[in-house]
Amino acid sequence: MTTIIGQPLHRTDGVAKVTGTARFSAEHPLARMAYAVLVQSTVAKGKITAIDTARAGAMRGVLLVMTHKNAPRLPTPKPPGKDEQPPNPKLSLLQSDEVLYNGQPIAVVVADTLEHAQDAARHVLVRYAAQPAALDFQSAKRQSRAPKPQPDRPSETARGNAESELARSAVRIDTVYMTPMENHNPMEPHATIAAWAGGQLTLHDATQNVSGVRKAVAKNLGIAPEQVRVICPFVGGGFGCKGSTWSHVVLAAMAARQAGRPVKLVLERTQMYGPVGARPMTEQRLRLGAQPDGGLQAVMHDTVSHTSFLDDFTEPCTSPTRMLYASAALRTTQRLATLNLGVPTYMRAPGEASGSFALECAMDEMAYALKMDPVALRLRNYAERDPEKDVPWSLKALRECYRVGAERFGWARRDPQPGSMRQGRTLVGYGMATATYPANRLPAKASAMIRPDGTALVRSGSHDLGTGTYTVMTQVAADALGWPVDKVTFELGDTAMPQAPVSGGSMTVASVGPAVQAAARAARDKLIALALGDAMSPVHGVPADDVLVENGWLVRKSQPGRREPAAALIARNGGAPVMADSESKPGDEKKQVSLHSFGAVFAEVHVDADLGIVRVPRIVAVYDVGRLINRKTGHSQLMGGIVWGVGMALTEKTEMDWRVGRAVNANLADYHVPVNVDIGAIDVTVLDGHDPYINALGARGIGEIGITGVAAAIANGVYHATGKRIRDLPITPDKLI
Ligand code: MOS
Repeated sequence: MTTIIGQPLHRTDGVAKVTGTARFSAEHPLARMAYAVLVQSTVAKGKITAIDTARAGAMRGVLLVMTHKNAPRLPTPKPPGKDEQPPNPKLSLLQSDEVLYNGQPIAVVVADTLEHAQDAARHVLVRYAAQPAALDFQSAKRQSRAPKPQPDRPSETARGNAESELARSAVRIDTVYMTPMENHNPMEPHATIAAWAGGQLTLHDATQNVSGVRKAVAKNLGIAPEQVRVICPFVGGGFGCKGSTWSHVVLAAMAARQAGRPVKLVLERTQMYGPVGARPMTEQRLRLGAQPDGGLQAVMHDTVSHTSFLDDFTEPCTSPTRMLYASAALRTTQRLATLNLGVPTYMRAPGEASGSFALECAMDEMAYALKMDPVALRLRNYAERDPEKDVPWSLKALRECYRVGAERFGWARRDPQPGSMRQGRTLVGYGMATATYPANRLPAKASAMIRPDGTALVRSGSHDLGTGTYTVMTQVAADALGWPVDKVTFELGDTAMPQAPVSGGSMTVASVGPAVQAAARAARDKLIALALGDAMSPVHGVPADDVLVENGWLVRKSQPGRREPAAALIARNGGAPVMADSESKPGDEKKQVSLHSFGAVFAEVHVDADLGIVRVPRIVAVYDVGRLINRKTGHSQLMGGIVWGVGMALTEKTEMDWRVGRAVNANLADYHVPVNVDIGAIDVTVLDGHDPYINALGARGIGEIGITGVAAAIANGVYHATGKRIRDLPITPDKLI
């Protein structure tokens, strides 16, 4: 019997998505719904000296204008000996007159229709005492500081003496790379519906973390988490922006309580640039020193990323540098430059995406300095164990990724001389880079139920961002139950279900998968126990290990003719569903081994010699991610990461008006995410593998690794095509002509 795990099953939620029956957060109809609109600050720093809501409040249909003057005072816990700190300093919840970024929420208008609320929001009159704002990255960088210490992520690391090893190295590279601020642009904007019933709050919220939203909202409002239920069966894209709770979620709950009606608050696309965080801009200095044979003597990576005055966020660009190559000495530093902008946040592979751009471009520059093949340079410095933690890898097949990738791509055809592979007016370049992302896992719970009608229902409060969670969990459950896959339903996205972690950090499959597997196995074992004890059962009295559940039937292994459907067994025994719960946790494997995924990305780049326009007709990528649960959704997920990498390389940048601190391209027309015409052939290969440490499934996450290495592979291809080394993203035509 072939297992359903690994099969390219169609998305179980596919039909609901394409027929419009999947209900997204803003689409839940509630009686007496009111509509909320955010009013935002128009200065980047200062105090609100006057806020006149009389006119707005008197307009047709307006139910409430909530400002810092009349918003409910939220509890401010005062831990002994500490300063007064709000529970979530990055949020703007109308508790003071202080403005720290342009676009900060300063009022909420609630009306009976969206149009009435929008109209009234334009008539809230605000006066500020504006102050000079910090909006220049270069001057903020001169006063940069270390981030607040985080337990497992030191802001500085060192092994050996990198300075002196660098000085002694025969070949040296010293370069600076820049990545811009980038904003998330999921199809579904952030949206919250808040409804109170007595002291109970229900939120329909577009989120990657239903239990995190419950916790954050409860804490901010000073109520118990049990008083909050968060529901989110479908997410129309996310990848970091919906990973944490932003101001509008709590504001919707506050407004609903104040207005005494359910309130819907949907962010306009423009409002997703500021009140919701962005990937911060980074400046990264890379210094590499090598022996003439390519052996790295020293690696130094110093990163400055921007943060805000409300709270710290660090883009940990040095993460891949710390573990990827076996250099003799290494030093990395992370520093923050503080600006009057909203708090930055996680964007797909935070740190690894931006950091691998710098590191993997520097490796390419080093390969040219050494006159060495870029793949050979990486193999020369292949880390046989994790050089940062000094433990073995759980499973690392990166060598195989390079080999298979180079072969599928035709890397051997590459003439290393820049500009040598020209086709008429088209300059052709081949570039490559390494991809990597850690394999994370957190505790998760699940429940399984075998029903008397022969169907099974499995649940966990996880999320599907379009990533395939519904589908792969159905496969894991069907496999563990011994059930036909079309008779298994998996449900997610509700805090009333067993708790699952944030769907971030590429850990949904690695965390929720084992919980689903354990719950399903426990339900199957209960079913078997029921059969063994039932005198009418064809497997009655046989040894437990001689019974299996196959296709929803109880079967005696040694005598397969003795069998019956589970539904018949349940019906005979009173008809109650067979139920089981599970809780699954990582063990101490992170102490024994280092868990990482790896990949190799190869890009063919075409540059128009006259116009400087870059096209990427072909990308070949090969990954080592442990076991893949679904070959179709998995490949699509990796492909999506690669597509975003093309955007990062060539088009994406949040353009700011630095005089005022506001994004000027905060819409899908001006912020250029790649579209179909920008994307060529993408050839994804996932090596067969089974990580023996991550979990019983052997599956690491695949959400983020797809974007890593792509921008570097393209930038390296651009250099090979043109001889021009572009070190600041995106690589737009103006930089090439
Ligand atoms: Mo991911 S950036 O942790 O959603």
